[in-house]
Amino acid sequence: MSRAAALQSALVKERRDIESQEQRAMVDSIPKDLNRPWEDPVPDSGGRYLAQELRGAGLSVRSMPEWKKESYGKTVTFGQKSSLSLQEQRQSLPIYRLKNELIKAVHHNQVLVVIGETGSGKTTQVTQYLAEAGYTAGGKIVCTQPRRVAAESVAKRVAEEYGCRLGEEVGYCIRFDDHTGPDTVIKYMTDGMLLREIMVDRNLSGYSVVMLDEAHERTIYTDILFGLLKKLIRRRDDLKLIVTSATLDAEKFSGYFFDCNIFTIPGRTFPVEILYAKQPESDYMDAALITVLQIHMSAPKGDILLFLTGQEEIDHACSYLHEKMKKLGNDAPDLLIYAAYGALPSEMQSKIFEPTPPGKRKVVVATNIAEASITIDGIYYVVDPGFAKVNVYNPKRGLDSLVITPISQASAKQRAGRAGRTGPGKCYRLYTESAYRNEMPPTSTPEIQRINLGWTVLNMKAMGINELVAFDFMDPPAPQALTSAMEQLYSLGALDEEGLLTKLGRKMAEFPQEPPLSKMLLASVDLGCSDEIVTIIAMIQTGNVFYRPREKQTQADRKRGNFFQPEGDHITLLTMYQAWKAKQFSGPWCVENFLQISSLRRAQDVRKQLLEIMDRYRLDVVSAGNDLTKVRRAIAAGFFFNAAKKDPQGGYRTLADHQQVYIHPSSALFHQQPEWVIYNEIVMTSKEYMREVTAINPAWLVELAPRFYKSIDPAKMSKRKRQERLEPLHDRYNEPNSWRLSKRRG
Ligand code: CDP
Ligand code: MG
Repeated sequence: MSRAAALQSALVKERRDIESQEQRAMVDSIPKDLNRPWEDPVPDSGGRYLAQELRGAGLSVRSMPEWKKESYGKTVTFGQKSSLSLQEQRQSLPIYRLKNELIKAVHHNQVLVVIGETGSGKTTQVTQYLAEAGYTAGGKIVCTQPRRVAAESVAKRVAEEYGCRLGEEVGYCIRFDDHTGPDTVIKYMTDGMLLREIMVDRNLSGYSVVMLDEAHERTIYTDILFGLLKKLIRRRDDLKLIVTSATLDAEKFSGYFFDCNIFTIPGRTFPVEILYAKQPESDYMDAALITVLQIHMSAPKGDILLFLTGQEEIDHACSYLHEKMKKLGNDAPDLLIYAAYGALPSEMQSKIFEPTPPGKRKVVVATNIAEASITIDGIYYVVDPGFAKVNVYNPKRGLDSLVITPISQASAKQRAGRAGRTGPGKCYRLYTESAYRNEMPPTSTPEIQRINLGWTVLNMKAMGINELVAFDFMDPPAPQALTSAMEQLYSLGALDEEGLLTKLGRKMAEFPQEPPLSKMLLASVDLGCSDEIVTIIAMIQTGNVFYRPREKQTQADRKRGNFFQPEGDHITLLTMYQAWKAKQFSGPWCVENFLQISSLRRAQDVRKQLLEIMDRYRLDVVSAGNDLTKVRRAIAAGFFFNAAKKDPQGGYRTLADHQQVYIHPSSALFHQQPEWVIYNEIVMTSKEYMREVTAINPAWLVELAPRFYKSIDPAKMSKRKRQERLEPLHDRYNEPNSWRLSKRRG
């Protein structure tokens, strides 16, 4: 088969995989209007599930999953932890008995793979043991985490155990938030941040030990660090590398790192009884919430952990549970309801770990973060709907989208295991046993084979790695994904026709964010509106700013409407931030306007960090004053991929691939429906909705993205094209070879 044919067939396969994945996700899980899943009551389930009580509380009782049993795990004894001192707790961890052996193993092996059950003490103890053993004399000990929250919460815990204040000997560093100081010897950081450090200092000369923790998560950053560290350890024989994992990837990791030794920490868990739904659940949210309430009302003591896919679902679940508990009144035992997801402010996060007071029960509604990265003691019941939100690259759009996808069997086991840490537990799987065995993949696909590689390629280029195909990836990405990332970067002006980094590209790589955002920021410097764009980027990156409590939706929506700007959502976000600033960043003002103060504070933080980077590279921060056109042009300069035109048949069509999309009902432009728009992202619920939409002038697209759009010669236009007057330069979807690594088309 020729190279072109091979590439073509790889692309077709990839497209099919992604489409089927998207479809599966859509069919199985997504269409769910979060405001209405509980409205149709179904017949009483015979008192089995406390139907009377629940209904008395205003709950509409729907048919409940029926359970099938399976059991796995083994019984061992375990100390009561909450009553122990910190040092006693440390000594009760499974890893403690192996302390000396571990230190010896690190001493004799440059690379070591460490495996052990979650909660055995890998993340919190290994760094401290090695510090005690003197490794900090030659540099810092760094431990990477795939998730920000984990880095932060673990560092807090270790500082406490170590007996210092956070930021002294023990600190953490995550994007937009550095809590380390001159005395820091144990440093927790996200893998993304270590990757940035290695870009600056290829030898990581400040470190004596690098621990790549949670490596089984296989984030793109960890995967690239694998390749870079594999090379680095050959240059620096004094550097120790530890790779930890909670699952069975140990052999593979060891094989990759020159067949290094594997250090195993024997597990210590209680049996967990697995209960499967007898029938597939049509609405996992509904089933999950009812299950939680039933466990609370009928099961013996023990806390509950419910896995949902994201902030929106979790907030919704929490407010639903609050409401129902209020309705149940004083007769029902107390239920403490906590949310756990990445964007949560840290005061809230630490509450999750506090032991539950006697006579009460705690439910933690969490994203995948609670699967392995954080450990909450006292969980006896796990409710697992079997889904997670993952970033999936959509080659048609050239950008990633978060898609709700079935989890892998490995994840399901890991989730179940969370119930068996304090005593024998139960895991309620809201899917059938046959779905588990036949439909769930054994393990998840590494991120590098799933997501858009734009940021990765940009940063690898900035590190001087030009031979991307030759890079020693543990699981190489598809060549097509690399080419398509290069194509995106070329369109943004970050790469030249030879595929080499341009000046603009080099500047873009300085910012820890997706290339289109960096492009938008740098364009705003030239367009004279960087002050506004920095705010907009900060606001986009902070997640949900609006607070919409169920009982006050109309009021909240009215308040939000007050901020709406005719130019669109980006300008609306800007106006909101400016209004908050005009009120001296007041908290009560946020409450009054139904805005989440934590999100706004985070935006303020991100803004500050971006300004620092801009200052470092002498990029001007200028305000556009009243000229909002400049701001909209800058947005178009970064997000021109995401342009859409109104479709006479209804909704919009994207320019890049003619997909039908709609303006999200929460958008400032929902009623206005302008002819041409660009959007920040697509969310797939009942329809494909554009989020963060701004009205544009199509002439800007050709002007600002001449490598992506051209005007069509009217004589050659089809009728449809005549209506659009604009088209992407090439049909990227059907021409995988349109962009080559060498000299390109004329
Ligand atoms: O990394 P691994 O899953 O093996 O365990 P770990 O994160 O080191 O956690 C060991 C123990 O430390 C847990 O069982 C918790 O009791 C405690 N811990 C905590 O209290 N707070 C944290 N933020 C992290 C851990
Ligand atoms: Mg850990």
